[in-house]
Amino acid sequence: MNIIFFGPPGAGKGTQAEIICTCLNIPTISTGAALREAVKNETPMGLAAKSAMESGSLVPDEVVIGIIRDRLAQDDCKNGYILDGFPRTVAQAEALDAMGQKIDTVISIVASDEKIVERLSGRRLCGVCGASYHLVYNPTKDNKTCDKCGADLIIRKDDAPEVVKSRLETYHAETEPVLAYYTEKGLVKSIETQEGVEETTRLVKQALCI
Ligand code: AP5
Repeated sequence: MNIIFFGPPGAGKGTQAEIICTCLNIPTISTGAALREAVKNETPMGLAAKSAMESGSLVPDEVVIGIIRDRLAQDDCKNGYILDGFPRTVAQAEALDAMGQKIDTVISIVASDEKIVERLSGRRLCGVCGASYHLVYNPTKDNKTCDKCGADLIIRKDDAPEVVKSRLETYHAETEPVLAYYTEKGLVKSIETQEGVEETTRLVKQALCI
């Protein structure tokens, strides 16, 4: 099954994608994670993407389309995949079609701007293994270190309130039109995010009939 997780920043796409990819035994491909890795390793792509990411704008289409094209060509994508954070523009959606990729379902996770601000202000990440937590909704034992590997938790630079505002503006202006693109194709299943990861997962599984 080829699935897209769509929604505003902080809606819970990454959290749900991580759970569902284990259920279905297919990989999750996150352009955000790939770009953060490139920034961390100071690759030419990372250096080019850094300022856009830190200001809450989108990285140029050709960069993210290149990431996706290379990743989908790998063997582990043959039996299906989850795309998390791609496509984010209509041009990216068209490029995916032009690659001959057939999308089965688009899970649109709906969350208000207010909810997004609450989610992202409380998000913490493990600086080493990348595990994602929330101070209130998904806390670690001490809210300072990672339950999985014990490393310190960090705050994503783009979770600063002024950057979140800009990411939301970018989402409404450039990414929301992607939903109409897939709605016209009859592929969208919308889910209202729930107060709690498990209840949201229940709705996602129901929508995917798994
Ligand atoms: P990216 O990493 O994709 O960021 P994003 O879309 O803004 O999404 P997030 O990772 O912030 O949120 P999420 O929806 O995955 O939520 P999460 O599960 O973590 O992209 C970063 C940047 O890279 C972009 O701004 C852009 O610059 C660039 N980029 C990436 N892709 C691009 C593309 N295709 N084109 C151009 N540029 C691109 O959850 C958030 C928090 O809420 C967590 O703390 C979590 O624990 C908590 N939580 C989750 N679900 C629940 C729940 N149901 N109840 C309570 N808490 C919950």
